[in-house]
Amino acid sequence: MDKKIIFSGVQPSGNITLGNYLGAIKNWVDLQKDYSCRYAIMDMHSITVRQDPAQLRKRTLDLLKLYIACGIDPEENLLFIQSQAPAHAQLAWVLNCYTYMGELSRMTQYKDKCAQHADNINAGLFTYPVLMAADILLYQADLVPVGKDQMQHIEITRDIAGRFNALYGDVFKIPEGFLPKAGAKVMSLTEPTKKMSKSDENPKAYISILDDFNVIAKKIKSAVTDSEGVVEYREGDETKAGINNLLTIMAAVTGRAVEDIAADYAGKGYGAFKADVAEAVVEHIRPIREKYDSLSGNKDYLVSIYTKGAEKACAISERTLQKVYKKVGFVL
Ligand code: TRP
Repeated sequence: MDKKIIFSGVQPSGNITLGNYLGAIKNWVDLQKDYSCRYAIMDMHSITVRQDPAQLRKRTLDLLKLYIACGIDPEENLLFIQSQAPAHAQLAWVLNCYTYMGELSRMTQYKDKCAQHADNINAGLFTYPVLMAADILLYQADLVPVGKDQMQHIEITRDIAGRFNALYGDVFKIPEGFLPKAGAKVMSLTEPTKKMSKSDENPKAYISILDDFNVIAKKIKSAVTDSEGVVEYREGDETKAGINNLLTIMAAVTGRAVEDIAADYAGKGYGAFKADVAEAVVEHIRPIREKYDSLSGNKDYLVSIYTKGAEKACAISERTLQKVYKKVGFVL
């Protein structure tokens, strides 16, 4: 039986955090067993906010290395850079003509970004979800693993695809979003009621997968907790948000249950607990970092990976694009 198709991607706009890794990339690695996976680096989405060109290029390649270092197998799956497959931009244009201003202006992320970047509310920010729809629909994806914040974009993708199919027949597979339940939601270390974010102004709030190990340990040891001194997981209790977060992180990197971990620290203070979390995180990241560093010294290999990725991506996406062009009446 054919495996179902998974499509997902991350923007190369910032340091990949422990939160991105535990919440997304780690799941992607596990999904490779059961699905045909297509993962992309969304550099075209990134330029909806100003980027430094040299840094964007570097972060794109860093992210590619990181995907591979985390265990995504570029031979088994499709791994590519969005801007290297022109069909994304081409389909996005067509889909723009089947998307309404009203539905785009209701997008939460658009409204948030307008507030954050009031000096640069560009049209790309507005049509961002259409490009995302093109990404997904080109690969005839069945499932799109994403964070909760992206679900609205999956919904609009389904609406656009359904609308197009209603006019022209079955051109697109209607994808489903899914929240991988194994995905740990990792919170900020300094304000544990907020999600850990790579764009946080305070670098102590997040752990970058590329931080020095002693920096990682230090950040964990200085994570905000509470004054109760009891290592216990209490869902929904805001005063325990810091401890809940550290327990979640520990559980995700060790594969143990939060309750079992908490039991180990009965009667012990936060100091011992934090030191162990720090060590567990560092040990979990160590092999990833070793692989990452070895890839850094192997430019030719990386070029061959993204070149092959682009070829495969173009072949698949071009097929869908041709169908669309034919349906709308372009001369082929
Ligand atoms: N918007 C997604 C995010 O910021 C990134 C993205 C772009 C994406 N295109 C996609 C995710 C297609 C899944 C599928 O997280």
